[in-house]
Amino acid sequence: MLKWLKRKNADKSSQPKGSVVQERNFDTKAAIRVLDMIKMEFGLDYERQKAITLRKIERFALKRDIHSFEELAISLQSSGSLKTELINMLTVGETYFYREFEQIELIGDEIISGKCESVLSAPCSTGEEVYSILLYIKSRDRLPPSLRITGIDINTDALTSAKKGCFSQRSVSQLPPDITKEWFASSGERYCIDSSLKKHTDFLYANIFDRDFQRLGKFDAVLSRNMMIYFTDEEKKRALRQLSSVMHPGSILLLGHADISFVPDGFEKIRRRRAVYFKKI
Ligand SMILES: C[S@@+](CC[C@H](N)C(=O)[O-])C[C@H]1O[C@@H](n2cnc3c(N)ncnc32)[C@H](O)[C@@H]1O
Repeated sequence: MLKWLKRKNADKSSQPKGSVVQERNFDTKAAIRVLDMIKMEFGLDYERQKAITLRKIERFALKRDIHSFEELAISLQSSGSLKTELINMLTVGETYFYREFEQIELIGDEIISGKCESVLSAPCSTGEEVYSILLYIKSRDRLPPSLRITGIDINTDALTSAKKGCFSQRSVSQLPPDITKEWFASSGERYCIDSSLKKHTDFLYANIFDRDFQRLGKFDAVLSRNMMIYFTDEEKKRALRQLSSVMHPGSILLLGHADISFVPDGFEKIRRRRAVYFKKI
């Protein structure tokens, strides 16, 4: 089991003659320390994908001239930028426009009917969820000038892309062609969203488990889709308490289908047409 973890003295043939060969030591005990650090700070539990995740982390470390999990664990404690790079590598998440369209429609209709002026997308990844809401409203109505949609994530590369607003062909493939044509400038395989939509958005770095999470303010609606799949039930409950703390009473919470299998404390479950959501009591 996990044979590769015990691998020591890697192939030295590629080293130039006369150079000092640093011994690799990616042993299990120190590996668990690295995984525990990630779980403690970000809630990400890779127990079920342990072998594949550790292989990715090993490659990440070797590229940076770090030759053991022990050394990596120490470097992660002292270097915030190394931690950011590691999290960026581990959290590349799939997202695309009009994903679970019935939920986008539900939030959009709440905004159009004047019940909702502020939305939090936590996590937003590369921003498709945030812009999907704006595109839906634009396709049906005028955008309320006071509308604010805030996207947060721990992946700084994803946040940079979200701010830029340029997407792949695959990412826009579920959008009705007339919307793509009207709201994106395309060049080759890249689709860049009209900058007039960006003024309703904020993309910020925030960890759902941040102690000062409430600094984000209060929202009328929260989308938290496809993040909790990596959390244990205990962490899901902790994340839901954090989300609840930034929601007004009566506001709505939309989760991904596989995110939780219980009704969060302080919420009631509501089914409207094809969408299921939770209302804060
Ligand atoms: C699959 S994407 C989901 C994007 C979008 N909500 C969707 O459903 O299409 C999951 C995102 O969760 C983010 N994430 C994971 N743990 C997080 C945490 N503790 N705080 C904030 N974001 C987190 C990852 O960086 C990743 O971008």
